[in-house]
Amino acid sequence: MAVIALASAKSSGVTTASLALALASPRPTLLAECDPSGGSIRGGFLGGQLNPHVGVYQLATAERQGPEHLAAAFAQQLRALDGRGDRQLLAGLADPRQAAAMAGTWAPLAQLLRLMDSQAGYDVIIDAGRLVTEAGGLHPVLSPSAVLHHADVVLLVVNGWLDSVAATAPVIELLQAELAARGSGADALGVLLVEDGPERPHGVSSALGVPVVAGLPWDAAPAAHLRRGAAAPRNFTRSPLMRSARSACGPIEALAQHRRVRQMPSQQPSPGVAGVLQRLAQARGTIHA
Ligand SMILES: Nc1ncnc2c1ncn2[C@@H]1O[C@H](COP(=O)(O)OP(=O)(O)O)[C@@H](O)[C@H]1O
Ligand SMILES: [Mg+2]
Repeated sequence: MAVIALASAKSSGVTTASLALALASPRPTLLAECDPSGGSIRGGFLGGQLNPHVGVYQLATAERQGPEHLAAAFAQQLRALDGRGDRQLLAGLADPRQAAAMAGTWAPLAQLLRLMDSQAGYDVIIDAGRLVTEAGGLHPVLSPSAVLHHADVVLLVVNGWLDSVAATAPVIELLQAELAARGSGADALGVLLVEDGPERPHGVSSALGVPVVAGLPWDAAPAAHLRRGAAAPRNFTRSPLMRSARSACGPIEALAQHRRVRQMPSQQPSPGVAGVLQRLAQARGTIHA
């Protein structure tokens, strides 16, 4: 079990990859949309079926009332990601203007996401969106820094075009410094390569100085199903995209476990928060769309 955050320097398939990994995971999974520029799954994969008031924005008010209110609100905001019952979604912001109100919420939410992994037995995939920087660091409102700091693995989604690689290099430098100073260490960082463009994994990895942990092929119809809610192509689950996503789970999990061995154990929850987590653990596999 692990907390995996996906982000990019330049839009390059973060949401599609997050969904592919969440749906490919062999374990109960929570997909948390923490992109301050707004969520895409409500209007995309879910085809606009989810009420705009449901999701991460509801946590901003609850957080101010303390960790137990936050945990209870969090549990109320989770929705089934698909019909299988053990994959859940914390939907993202419905309006980018809500990002300012979230600035103080990402850190307590990040703690809760860690507890969803350690206490409730979920793999957590975070869509952190395109990272916005300012002089010397991540932008405090337009990037969800705390969720990156608390992740076991931070995957920068890069494609095989030079502009994507070039835009990613400075963000890697900045993130390595942030993760070393305020996160779980610079080695949390890896690349997820979307195989579109001429660059190969070894070239990307040597250009960026960070390992390419996994790759996903460019596969238009399954990606349109994930990203836009287009009809699922025949054999969606056996498509190259979903097969690669299943294969990617292995090395990503291995990196997370390798790092875990050297990390501090996560904070113990208060009894109220532990109760909520226990109910979520018991609900695994029984929550339907
Ligand atoms: N692996 C892929 N194969 C084909 N198309 C993809 C793939 N990944 C992303 N896309 C397409 O690229 C566009 C941007 O993807 P998206 O996941 O929204 O990126 P981001 O979240 O980084 O902005 C979408 O139209 C999506 O369908
Ligand atoms: Mg996105």
